Amino acid sequence: MGGRPDDAVIFTRNTTDSLNLLAGCLPVVDGVHTGDVLYLDIEHHANLLPWQGVPHRSVIAAPTLAGTLDLLRGELAHGGVSLLAVTGASNVTGEVLPIRALAALAHEYGARIVVDAAQLAPHRRIDIAADDVDYLAFSGHKLYAPFGAGVLVGRPDWLDAGTPHLAAAGPCRTPGSTRSAGPPGPPGTKAARPMSSAPPPWPGPPR
Ligand SMILES: Cc1ncc(COP(=O)(O)O)c(C=O)c1O
Repeated sequence: MGGRPDDAVIFTRNTTDSLNLLAGCLPVVDGVHTGDVLYLDIEHHANLLPWQGVPHRSVIAAPTLAGTLDLLRGELAHGGVSLLAVTGASNVTGEVLPIRALAALAHEYGARIVVDAAQLAPHRRIDIAADDVDYLAFSGHKLYAPFGAGVLVGRPDWLDAGTPHLAAAGPCRTPGSTRSAGPPGPPGTKAARPMSSAPPPWPGPPR
């Protein structure tokens, strides 16, 4: 995926899980999100619903790509966007979006970008450092990996400061019966037995 040397790589269950995790890591100051998430109406639900629990805005895609980029620019120019969330390739039309141009656009207005690469990763080489993409989410099972494997890769600062994705012993420094201290680190730190634990081997068909 062409990650930068300091990028965090968090193994998740799938793209949906990765994007929900990132939604819990958006920067917050004094309990208030520092900006909105901006997304297009063409997104898969996995790249729509996680943002609807945080401050957000959406743009209705125009009939042409140039028109859509203009609309996004207009919305970004209003200010107050912290994250642009876009699909790398549409699951409906197969259209591949110009992620390098979208990253440049987001950065021009002080926002970061997350690319939903669920459909892009199986079909195109991706280089997030070259394209200056801040976060990339994808599913292993769409890449012929086992089911239940996904990845969120990207800049570590938001991820390190985020709230634990799953509350449990893993993300808690000092568990107590009524109050527990933490979190100690990145939200991706394991909350329970790793999902990758192999199930017992199938004994084969009954004889
Ligand atoms: C573009 C896109 N994003 C996200 C997802 C969600 O992927 P998953 O179900 O692996 O979380 C899909 C699933 O088909 C998709 O096509």
